[in-house]
Amino acid sequence: MTTEQTRTETLNQTKYLWWQHGVIYQIYPRSFQDSNGDGVGDLKGVTSRLDYLQWLGVDCIWLSPIYPSPMADFGYDISDYRGIHPLFGTMEDFDELLHETHNRGMKLLLDLVPNHTSDQHPWFLESRSSKDNPKRDWYIWHDGGENGALPNNWLSVFGGHAWEWDEQTQQYYYHAFLKEQPDLNWRNPEVQQAMLDVMRFWLDKGIDGFRVDVMWHMIKDEQLRDNPPSPDSIYNADDLIYDHYNPVYSTDQPEVHDIVRMMRDLTDQYDDRVLIGEIYLPIQKLVTYYGLDNKGAHLPFNFQLLTLPWDSARIAAAIDEYEGALPVQGWPNWVLSNHDKPRISSRIGRSQAKIAALMLLTLRGTPTIYYGDEIGMRDVAIPINEIVDPQGLNMPDLNVSRDPSRTPMQWSSEINSGFSQNKPWLRLPYNSGRVNVETQKSNPYSMLAFYRKLIALRKESAALNIGAYSPVYSDQQLISYTREFGDEKFLIILNLSHRPCYFKPRNNASYKGTIVLGTETERVGMQVEDIITLAGDEGLLIRLY
Ligand code: GLC
Repeated sequence: MTTEQTRTETLNQTKYLWWQHGVIYQIYPRSFQDSNGDGVGDLKGVTSRLDYLQWLGVDCIWLSPIYPSPMADFGYDISDYRGIHPLFGTMEDFDELLHETHNRGMKLLLDLVPNHTSDQHPWFLESRSSKDNPKRDWYIWHDGGENGALPNNWLSVFGGHAWEWDEQTQQYYYHAFLKEQPDLNWRNPEVQQAMLDVMRFWLDKGIDGFRVDVMWHMIKDEQLRDNPPSPDSIYNADDLIYDHYNPVYSTDQPEVHDIVRMMRDLTDQYDDRVLIGEIYLPIQKLVTYYGLDNKGAHLPFNFQLLTLPWDSARIAAAIDEYEGALPVQGWPNWVLSNHDKPRISSRIGRSQAKIAALMLLTLRGTPTIYYGDEIGMRDVAIPINEIVDPQGLNMPDLNVSRDPSRTPMQWSSEINSGFSQNKPWLRLPYNSGRVNVETQKSNPYSMLAFYRKLIALRKESAALNIGAYSPVYSDQQLISYTREFGDEKFLIILNLSHRPCYFKPRNNASYKGTIVLGTETERVGMQVEDIITLAGDEGLLIRLY
């Protein structure tokens, strides 16, 4: 049965939407394709690669920020929510990209960064101009305590205090990230309306939805109470490292759900759009972002696979905890890598990268692929004097720069791997002449061939894209589960270890089927029955009969 057929069919009276059965692909625009030779990727570059994305089979592109920005945090510090940064091109370039994306039957999502603006945004320039400026309350200003003491102990995610003293107006303002990224005061209804207007502007243009940056940060404790030290902290208070405290008062406040709901209500005024939230929280808290009656985010990003140790027992437990915690009608989703974290192939190693892909694309829920993961790109070693990420620069002793996972897409064996005619803003790895789209396209054993096949199988099978999930069993090496819809059923077995193992059904269960995809291409087409042997790092997708 194909997705096309099931689109109009119902399972438990639910109609499945594009963002439920489709695959999302994240593009970090600075690093995808440079079209004008300045070493930085741009919108025309993305447009020129749409045919590749269509060939790969993804359904939706999410672009990290492309708006005007002083680039203190590479675009996550926005100075105009309705424009395009000249580095990336013009509004015409954007319109063309949107048009061409839609022409190919794909969707386009933008990043919305509502928690903070750039300190150069006109709103902040006004707000900081005087204490009685009408926009003063659009940001979070506070008097100092005795002898200029800070309002509380909150720290910036990027290290140091989260309060910045403003000499001119003699108050502090709050910034969860850089001091160049002051936090908006979302308790102010004017801020709410202004940001909803921004959303309307882009939705009216026809974009298909938003990925909302740091959704769980948007509202802070009204009393600004001190955060308690985290019991697991390996730091001292004086280190001023964010993880020293448990951010119970600066993030994930109950009122944030009212804001998310407002955003959702607006999104729902348009047909078929999606609202995704970036949220790093434990599962039980994460699922609250689906909102009451499922009127919160459509997809609160689920980062379990990106944060948990790569251990079969831990991962299996997390999958089931997540499945068990989802609200009725809450749709799951999975992410392996993004622009803030190490790439999957660096975190778990090359040998497990295909297992991870198989997991991402066969678990129940919407998968998000990070550009380059489909060719097994790894984090690139960036010499310390070439680091540009503020997180890395602010905490040089912790080796937390995000540059390594943001390097240019490796397209070909040409100069700069086909990314740019000139020196790219971040360096390429030494092996980019070998590890790239061009070489992998013609190699049936490549990571790219594997991803493409997997995406295609997922697309044509309702069992894989919307079917029910049931765990079979897991042990210290493997994870196994089934996906099922109508009379179609798959068994997925993943060996998360480097040693061989076997799958041995329990409770007299019996499984017979054909391998339709595996990490070892040679095994495809083979029949298997009951006790199934796996090599180290092997994963199998088996059609049962
Ligand atoms: C989000 C973004 C990250 C950015 C931060 C501040 O976590 O993904 O890249 O630095 O928000 O905007």
